[in-house]
Amino acid sequence: MGVDPGSLLLHFARNGAFAPGGNDLLVLERGEGPYVFDTQGRRYIDGLSSLFCCQLGYSYGGEFARVATEQLERLPFNTNWATATPVAIELAGKLSGLAPMEDARVFFTSGGSESVEAAWKIIRQHFVVRGEPQRTKAIARDIAYHGVTLGALSLTGVARFKDPFGPPAIPTTHVSNTNRFRDDRDESAFCADLLAEIERTIAAEGPDTIAAIFAEPMQNAGGCLVPPDGYWAGLREICDRHGILLVADEVISGMGRLGEWFGVTRYGGMPDVITIAKGLTSAHAAMGAAIVSGRVAAPLFEDGVTLLHGITFGGHPVSAAIALRNLELFEEERVLENVRALEPHLRDRMEELRELPIVGDVRGGGFFWAVELVRDEENGRFDADERERLLRGFMPGRLLEAGLIARADDRGDSVVQIAPPLNCTAEQLDEVVAALRATLVDAGAHMGLAGAGATVAA
Ligand SMILES: Cc1ncc(COP(=O)(O)O)c(C=O)c1O
Repeated sequence: MGVDPGSLLLHFARNGAFAPGGNDLLVLERGEGPYVFDTQGRRYIDGLSSLFCCQLGYSYGGEFARVATEQLERLPFNTNWATATPVAIELAGKLSGLAPMEDARVFFTSGGSESVEAAWKIIRQHFVVRGEPQRTKAIARDIAYHGVTLGALSLTGVARFKDPFGPPAIPTTHVSNTNRFRDDRDESAFCADLLAEIERTIAAEGPDTIAAIFAEPMQNAGGCLVPPDGYWAGLREICDRHGILLVADEVISGMGRLGEWFGVTRYGGMPDVITIAKGLTSAHAAMGAAIVSGRVAAPLFEDGVTLLHGITFGGHPVSAAIALRNLELFEEERVLENVRALEPHLRDRMEELRELPIVGDVRGGGFFWAVELVRDEENGRFDADERERLLRGFMPGRLLEAGLIARADDRGDSVVQIAPPLNCTAEQLDEVVAALRATLVDAGAHMGLAGAGATVAA
């Protein structure tokens, strides 16, 4: 029997569907390694790391509790509003050292949307102090998700999340993302066309009115959209030529997800600003950051300049202590090395899913993968009714029956995504892919695809 959410409003959910007699609500109460357990005692492998957050899985609570307790007993709280704590200073120094930009400065937040908005406001102030206040616009990409608070929502490229909320706070033009499925250009022509579109957009808007381009190293929404070779170098060159700043939104791609501290380095990118959250504490505390190059931060250090942004809990010392321990654990447990070593294995297992009729494309990197679901051999797209039946009607329940937490999504085309904890073993990754395969086989049969057999529960 399902659990009633009672007074709880669920985020991004059809709340009415969970009323008594409706859908079962997944209520998780315990975790161990990459596994989570619901209130009925059922075990699932968390193939999504709780929405791309729990990089270390669920067995380090004691470790984090120890550093949190020490900090709570020493000093439970102080802000970063013109004061600081030793842990916030230490964490900023550590992140600055890991970031690819020179002399980076770190502004702490409580989560991803706040990091994106902090990045925007620091960029705006940079230009105002530098005497270019007319740079008020941004460029971002179609279908990209950069958060849903009103500033970040402007950058998000999913129309249905934005339409009810009025004009965007940040005037933003959205350009094509890096989805190459169904595109028959070769990689270099594809890349050149994407960059040319950005050039045209900048020219149309007025080059000196654009403050920043926001892009994820690997775009999540749309299903793990890998950048073509040369894309990030091209973005850098365009930004330099027009005096525009380049922001890598690493809220998902960062903190080891792609086998690097910051995914942008995997693609040879050199941003001016990096935004992080989620994996910074492996989700053991709510914390994010905007990491800003020394050059971008420089105007903020000029005589008499006040940074006009602040968040009470940004840099919370308990969260900072947890984040520092998280970074240490990454090193002690060789987490980045694990992702790099097992990526080829995971890639091979995922690629094998292409043999299923419902799978049109497999894409991703690190421990971050998507399969795109198609209705026929011509890679036809499911229509709105079919997506409703498949992605909301069938997949969520069937995935859970298979003992897997994964994400079925159609902000762009129809995809299922996995992002397992970064310390998973090869056997645990196999378990994730086996459960995904069983679900996809049944999904094919459910949608009446030719050649799709059905399994019994995985
Ligand atoms: C790339 C990216 N940026 C920003 C955000 C917003 O983060 P939050 O939900 O912590 O506000 C997300 C959330 O998933 C994200 O994926």
